[in-house]
Amino acid sequence: MGTLILFIPFSALFAPATSTNRSLSEGSSLSSENPEDVLTSPDGVFSAGFYPVGDNAYCFAIWFTSLTSRSQDRTVVWMANRDQPVNGRKSKLSLLRTGNLILTDAGKFTVWETNTAPISSLELHLHDTGNLVLQTLGGKSLWESFDFPTDTLLPQQLLTRNTKLVSSRSQTNYSSGFYKLLFDNDNVLCLLYDRANISSPYWPAPWLRRENAKRFVYNSSRIAVLDSFGNFSSSDRFTFSSTDYGQLFHRRLTLDHDGNLRLYSWDEEGEKWVVSWQAWQFPCIIHGVCGANSICSYVPGIGRKCSCLRGYKMISHTDWSQGCEPEFDLSFEKNKFDFWQLSHLDFYGFDYGSYHNYTLAQCKTLCLELPECKAFQYNFYREDTHSDCFPKTLLMNGHRLPSFDGSFYLRVLKKDLSNLLSNSNLAEEFSLNCSSEGPLLLERVYSKSPINGTVKFMLWFVFGLGGLEIVGILLVWCLFIRTPQSSSPDKQLAITGFRKFTYSELKKATKGFTKEIGRGAGGIVYKGVLADNRVAAIKQLYKANQGEEVFLAEVNIIGRLNHMNLIEMWGYCAEGKQRLLVSEYMEHGSLADNFSSNSLDWKKRFEIALGTAKGLSYLHEECLEWVLHCDVKPENIFLDSNYQPKVADFGLSKLQSRGEPNNSSFSRMRGTRGYMAPEWVFNLPITSKVDVYSYGIVVLEMVTGKDATKGVHDIEGGEQSQHKRLVSWVREKKNRAALTESWLEEIIDPRLKGEYDVRKMEFLIGVALQCVEEEKDARPNMREVVGMLLAQENDH
Ligand SMILES: *[C@@H]1O[C@H](CO)[C@@H](O)[C@H](O)[C@H]1NC(C)=O
Ligand SMILES: *[C@@H]1O[C@H](CO)[C@@H](O)[C@H](O)[C@H]1NC(C)=O
Ligand SMILES: *[C@@H]1O[C@H](CO)[C@@H](O)[C@H](O)[C@H]1NC(C)=O
Ligand SMILES: *[C@@H]1O[C@H](CO)[C@@H](O)[C@H](O)[C@H]1NC(C)=O
Ligand SMILES: *[C@@H]1O[C@H](CO)[C@@H](O)[C@H](O)[C@H]1NC(C)=O
Ligand SMILES: *[C@@H]1O[C@H](CO)[C@@H](O)[C@H](O)[C@H]1NC(C)=O
Ligand SMILES: *[C@@H]1O[C@H](CO)[C@@H](O)[C@H](O)[C@H]1NC(C)=O
Repeated sequence: MGTLILFIPFSALFAPATSTNRSLSEGSSLSSENPEDVLTSPDGVFSAGFYPVGDNAYCFAIWFTSLTSRSQDRTVVWMANRDQPVNGRKSKLSLLRTGNLILTDAGKFTVWETNTAPISSLELHLHDTGNLVLQTLGGKSLWESFDFPTDTLLPQQLLTRNTKLVSSRSQTNYSSGFYKLLFDNDNVLCLLYDRANISSPYWPAPWLRRENAKRFVYNSSRIAVLDSFGNFSSSDRFTFSSTDYGQLFHRRLTLDHDGNLRLYSWDEEGEKWVVSWQAWQFPCIIHGVCGANSICSYVPGIGRKCSCLRGYKMISHTDWSQGCEPEFDLSFEKNKFDFWQLSHLDFYGFDYGSYHNYTLAQCKTLCLELPECKAFQYNFYREDTHSDCFPKTLLMNGHRLPSFDGSFYLRVLKKDLSNLLSNSNLAEEFSLNCSSEGPLLLERVYSKSPINGTVKFMLWFVFGLGGLEIVGILLVWCLFIRTPQSSSPDKQLAITGFRKFTYSELKKATKGFTKEIGRGAGGIVYKGVLADNRVAAIKQLYKANQGEEVFLAEVNIIGRLNHMNLIEMWGYCAEGKQRLLVSEYMEHGSLADNFSSNSLDWKKRFEIALGTAKGLSYLHEECLEWVLHCDVKPENIFLDSNYQPKVADFGLSKLQSRGEPNNSSFSRMRGTRGYMAPEWVFNLPITSKVDVYSYGIVVLEMVTGKDATKGVHDIEGGEQSQHKRLVSWVREKKNRAALTESWLEEIIDPRLKGEYDVRKMEFLIGVALQCVEEEKDARPNMREVVGMLLAQENDH
């Protein structure tokens, strides 16, 4: 008898992991106690089961079955009970004989149910699409998870008038957050910040009229869907295509906890999710991010950062969404107040009203008279001597906007004003206190039942093993799942797959730094083979005069940049004076190499121009000019096996500039002769437009086949050969277009043998010439370049 009892738990514990459950039939259940109680889709991509969301807290969820061999990472796409997790023991998902699917907590309470009508012979299936369906044996569906999305829409899953996506509360807290994606009463698909008494739409851009946002308000069918190739379309005529359209990736459209809607594609090679579209490039535009009375700014690598306006303090040190509160009492008599003028600061919405042609003094008086007026916005338009005054009742959605011209006047105590003016900081930094936000712990409320002796012994035995397992799960959980909350750079890097290498590892990988493959501004590049057999390009930086901490901070930024048109960074090494960067190695070499080997036809050149623009646009926009490349040239643009460009060497300008004595980020000239914008020469402010200039030169090189660093020898109508800069040469030829029809033929790379699309070519040259305007403000930004090229590409 004893042996028999022992045998049962053993076989259950050591059952091969491959035996999966395909469906759940009536009268059976999945238990939170058995990690193997998981439903799997026929193709194995999705699993449904109890997912740990805290200590002894579980949600019934659907996730992508571990896509990668490397990490424990499971991406959840749906949850039944996100706001009410259940206990780890005695909780069950049961398909009752009445046809109802119920989730019970600790054997007692029903926390969730489908309320399906009583029909016999039902089964619960997880389909290949990721849809969990309660269906009859004949396949008729009674209930499906696709009709009750949480924060994710999978391909083919319809978003309808009855459904919405709701973000999760934070990266580690899966309960319902404040952001929603839904169809509004105008039939427009929109993103909404929505909490207790604030409701504020932020996408499409709220300052645009619906028609200007290209949304169609008269189709009331209210349906949106993503297809598996990456096209999204909505009945309000909003559509987008993912940057990797056409390829069959695993995809998901997720409303992230930060309020941004992102399309992710699973990159098999890199074993990670890659963003292939997002609603907003600039995270501070998203409403409510920092709560009231605070300012949002964006720091790549760390993400957006919140700080309180001076004179205000953080309400909760664990949650920025609660914002900041004044350290003074606004109800003081009005003559105790004055205003502190701040520029380039925008707080969107919550105007008390708009008052035209008020003088500044009138506007001040108006605000002082209103007890709820916290500040006002004052815009003066010099051209038509017209002004606007907007008293604000709530300071939400604050962010710095360099292009914003109006002034912002914050109501402060008179006695504080001189103190405020003496310090140039707008805001006060407060740090999040993560230590006080412990994991969710559910009270253990298990129902007791009398247990006899033998069973008791058996349970002890099982718990003994189970206890070990729980310790194991907790360890794994602490090591992997909790890391996103910590802020130390080392740990942050661990989650992105970007890691620290030791010097000896890299020495071994490069066979003692023998295979030199390139030498650039920042250092020498070696080819190496890492321990896991990946071929890497390892760059040893020349200057190692900065502290490890500064280097780590910068490297952290680089490690987080992630775009299909940027070289993928794998890691770094900082030991003693050694500073190295490890990135993917591109077999097909650089654009410069491919030029000389004559392997680029017109189509490829156009694609390279487009891809390079996308990569640079990501660096500039995503990172708000934090990452200027400063050395865009054909040697720094690599090509993959599909001739897709990948920009390399980004972020180096930052890595090198820090630690220099005068602390100005761009104290020295950077870049390569021939590609450098005039700003460098004339010592003008350096902005992202320097990269736009270099990009323009690279495109002109691709079109003409000439080398910008050498210039052009031009023989015209028997005149003497003249040495000219590439730009002036192309510009002159184009200006003569009216006179000679053949101007294109004169400048186009002869290696194209005349095989190109004339209209597109003219367009591309036009864009490139705009990029190389002497005056930086006359140049488009990279996003506009991408827009123009895309429009041209799609316009057949
Ligand atoms: C699911 O499969 C596991 C392992 O094969 C098994 O132990 C468990 O009883 C099954 N659960 C159901 C509900 O069929
Ligand atoms: C929401 O309304 C309540 C009650 O009217 C008020 O106490 C609270 O301050 C308001 N919250 C916000 C963020 O305005
Ligand atoms: C996907 O979108 C692209 C660009 O918007 C369009 O050209 C293409 O026809 C779309 N494909 C499908 C299947 O709708
Ligand atoms: C409304 O949208 C649906 C779904 O996108 C589409 O099939 C239908 O043709 C649209 N109707 C009109 C009048 O545009
Ligand atoms: C504001 O003043 C300008 C110039 O004095 C005038 O043209 C404009 O109509 C005024 N606007 C309003 C709303 O009164
Ligand atoms: C963080 O929270 C813990 C626990 O609530 C508290 O003991 C600690 O003082 C807090 N630290 C800061 C910097 O506020
Ligand atoms: C998640 O957020 C909700 C709502 O703010 C809160 O009630 C819950 O305790 C949080 N859970 C965890 C694990 O922090």
